[in-house]
Amino acid sequence: MKPLIDLPFLSHGHATLKDVEQSVRFYRDFIGLDVVKTSPRTLVARLGSNTAIVGVTLGEKGLAKANRPWLKNAHFGFDFPTADEVKEAHELSLLHQESFHIKNVGDLVESDEGLSFLLLDQDGNYWEILENQIGGYTRYFDGECDTRHALASFSERNLENRKSILKPLLMSHMTCEVIDIEKSRVLYEEVFGLDCIRLTSKRMLGRLNSVAVIDFIETDSELREHKMHNHIGFDVAGPENVDIARQIIVDNQEKFGFDVIHKTSGSHGTYGFTFSDLDNNAWQIEDYPRGGYYWMFEQGGDLLNKFQPNVGGVEDWHQLIDPETYEYTGVKNN
Ligand SMILES: [Fe+2]
Repeated sequence: MKPLIDLPFLSHGHATLKDVEQSVRFYRDFIGLDVVKTSPRTLVARLGSNTAIVGVTLGEKGLAKANRPWLKNAHFGFDFPTADEVKEAHELSLLHQESFHIKNVGDLVESDEGLSFLLLDQDGNYWEILENQIGGYTRYFDGECDTRHALASFSERNLENRKSILKPLLMSHMTCEVIDIEKSRVLYEEVFGLDCIRLTSKRMLGRLNSVAVIDFIETDSELREHKMHNHIGFDVAGPENVDIARQIIVDNQEKFGFDVIHKTSGSHGTYGFTFSDLDNNAWQIEDYPRGGYYWMFEQGGDLLNKFQPNVGGVEDWHQLIDPETYEYTGVKNN
């Protein structure tokens, strides 16, 4: 069945922070992610695919005001293929805990899937380090999905050149808590077009032409507020498709229980909107290139213009893409 909205790719999830430089240090030098600073208050990070983490500064006061006891259930997960490597990562985390302002290094936990632990960073975000087979969660899904954009630009990348403390292979997932997994599954499949695989009664994986998946877990969290800061984003090609998507959300508000549907805006360098669903989870649909944020990594380093490229006198990311296909082309020689 064709989903209600044509979303091409699982583009990004969010982390919130106090200080971009401190977070770049933690994301790049400790965990081992590729990081691009996108403004004095924002960054993007990735590992092993183009489904990115967008880090946004809320500041000390903002973080304190947005009390989010559920943040543990909105973590990002990073894979090592063996239990020994997870153990070593745990030791390294304890050793470097102070210097990277890590609030807590959780205990090692053994489950059917292997060994894992959670890190709580200086800003209250949780990062899971886990044992997982090479390729992440792809093995659970039947058939292929189109990972052309998810993996664009990764062919020659040499992960071994990293100087970071930890060196996980892949960001395999972002976690998202729901109240009733069956109810939410209908939304994800019928509206967003996610490919969903139920793992247990309380757990389901979802992917959208991506290597990184959303790990949905059914929880009984009582407080589910302030989720807009931690929305999950998808890209569509062009402002008119953003408007079409928003109209579909508005038309189906009652049927799927959408809570808040924000107006469209042009914040952080593109046109888009956010809305929240029956679980209070927040989602974003924005005008963005195929493959999402990967143009930021391609254009060569941190952005000098807020959210816009540094290269070749280009003023807006739209100049780096083919307007018809929305494929990234880089700077054209004309
Ligand atoms: Fe976003």
